[in-house]
Amino acid sequence: MRLKYKIAVLPGDGIGVEIVPEAVKALEAISLRFGHQFEFTEALVGGAAYDAVGHPLPEETLALCKSSDAVLLGAIGGPQYDELPVSLRPEIGALLPLRKELALFANLRPCMLFPGLLQASTIKEEVIKGVDIMVIRELTGGLYFGNKSREKTPQGGQIATDVLSYSTHEIERIVRLAYEVAGKRRKQLCSVDKANVLESSRLWRETVSAMEKEYPDIKTTHMYVDNCSMQLIRDPRQFDVIVTENMFGDILTDEASMLTGSIGMLPSASIGGDVGLYEPSHGSAPDIAGQNIANPLATILSAAMLLRYSFNLDQEAELIEKAVTRALEEGCRTSDLLACSDPSGQPVKVLGTREMGDIIAQKIMQL
Ligand code: IPM
Ligand code: MG
Repeated sequence: MRLKYKIAVLPGDGIGVEIVPEAVKALEAISLRFGHQFEFTEALVGGAAYDAVGHPLPEETLALCKSSDAVLLGAIGGPQYDELPVSLRPEIGALLPLRKELALFANLRPCMLFPGLLQASTIKEEVIKGVDIMVIRELTGGLYFGNKSREKTPQGGQIATDVLSYSTHEIERIVRLAYEVAGKRRKQLCSVDKANVLESSRLWRETVSAMEKEYPDIKTTHMYVDNCSMQLIRDPRQFDVIVTENMFGDILTDEASMLTGSIGMLPSASIGGDVGLYEPSHGSAPDIAGQNIANPLATILSAAMLLRYSFNLDQEAELIEKAVTRALEEGCRTSDLLACSDPSGQPVKVLGTREMGDIIAQKIMQL
């Protein structure tokens, strides 16, 4: 096992600059406890980079990511950048190229209900108790990366086009990865598409069907995306691993986050290339930025995924997850989790971003 790891730290915009330091705190506690050396190098990305140097993904930032062992990202974007030329907007100019350049074709988003948060969800307890779903979203293809264009019509209107295409190769590699993940879990894979309407989905379904026989121990099912969005709320425990294309995965994971109580609980790992990127599934939340009220747990849990998927440090990852579980059980809450009363009857402790980060770091040292 190596002892020294280089981590690129990109806080980005909005609450990104508040939550990322809390995940770094958790990683520092891990390094103290286990004797690993994590070398953190911070760089600009998103609107913050645009403001400082005129581009949301400066070359130095990309070079740093490529030469690191893993990337920890906060969030990017904000209303002040919405009017920039499309190629300079944080999403199109930084996040998507970063995913593409690092060849991160697989985005893993685990939707797990922490027992302490049973009452935080807007959905009934008996429906969500025990939910544990891994959504695997294709991340470098589909509508996000297809050609985009605008044309003027003779009538003075416009036509806007986004191309949705998938190759057999793109489908096979994400589905293979999903089968491997399912093999280590409850061995059920649900492939989500819109094959009743879309040609790209028909190729998706044919490709999955052809691969099914290579994985006889895994139960493969197919579901239309509209049905899946309904089933996630009706009976989420029917799902183990979901694999789907880029845009469907984006939408379904925001929906699935509500099973966990808050989108502030949903981490993510983007993998597939040499360097993995770890970020919360939520955005930069400009409305609550700078107030020390954002929930850092999705980012802290993303740091746990970083340890697991990029460094193979399973025990260390589990310790972070255990620290989060324990803090929630003890009634520690950020304000987004306040819909819940504490199940054990203990008073709920409302914490700020930094205070939640401190508690997690403390627990990592003590548990
Ligand atoms: C996500 C986000 C991004 C996406 C945005 C910020 C471009 O919503 O990671 O889910 O759509 O992929
Ligand atoms: Mg999204």
